[in-house]
Amino acid sequence: MKEKKPLIRVKDLVAKYGETTILSDINVDILENEVTVILGSSGCGKTTLLKNILQLQKPASGSIEVFGEDLTTLSENEYEEILKKIGVLFQNGALLNSVNIFENISIPLEQHTKLPPEIRQKIIEVKLGLVNLSHAIYLKPSELSGGMKKRAALARAIALDPVILCCDEPSAGLDPLTSADLDKLILNLKNQLRMTVLIVTHELASIHRIADKIIFLDQGSMLFNGTIEEARKANIEQIDAFFEVGSF
Ligand SMILES: Nc1ncnc2c1ncn2[C@@H]1O[C@H](COP(=O)(O)OP(=O)(O)O)[C@@H](O)[C@H]1O
Ligand SMILES: [Mg+2]
Repeated sequence: MKEKKPLIRVKDLVAKYGETTILSDINVDILENEVTVILGSSGCGKTTLLKNILQLQKPASGSIEVFGEDLTTLSENEYEEILKKIGVLFQNGALLNSVNIFENISIPLEQHTKLPPEIRQKIIEVKLGLVNLSHAIYLKPSELSGGMKKRAALARAIALDPVILCCDEPSAGLDPLTSADLDKLILNLKNQLRMTVLIVTHELASIHRIADKIIFLDQGSMLFNGTIEEARKANIEQIDAFFEVGSF
């Protein structure tokens, strides 16, 4: 089998807020075409890891390579080019409430492309079709259910056909069935658009549904990186406890 390429390489990452070290000694590769899940108890630094990878927070030290480029050394323009290829779905979905779904998805297309309005319209229709929300195109976020809002935010995250999709707790606040549907949708999109996916979650059911690999964070370091099967065999107390209890 062909060796998978690392699309993201985290090397000796240290993440801090002010003087407080949140994560240290993080070394991990995110491989192409896989779903990698970042796991760990609340407050352990999952979102911080995602933000450092995306350079939304500057790493205190270490490097982040994406598509073979060290993000910590790129110019603003070079970084923008890479960011265009990464779709991000943040924890609260972060749709603009004042405008409708069409306009929400139009934002990244207007910001990052010079496509004419009729092509933008087509792309928005296609992306909403992919998340089964065609009927909601002219509704405001406040008119959508929690699950629909997540799907709309997902449509926006994939507007530019990203190579990598990052999601921070996509199913937070959703009921188990809606959460399972969202996982299925993310997997379908991953296969249809051939994306590499990096997801933060704390739900065991979700991990079993979607994870090819897991990154397990605990007390500021990475306890484990590998498949669920390997994790179960690793005999690591915190990981065994997580799999027994089912969540954090
Ligand atoms: N902007 C910030 N400034 C200072 N501390 C922060 C900030 N964001 C998060 N933290 C702290 O960093 C730690 C990790 O947070 P976070 O990455 O959000 O955890 P998780 O996503 O795993 O729940 C927590 O102790 C949190 O209080
Ligand atoms: Mg978080």
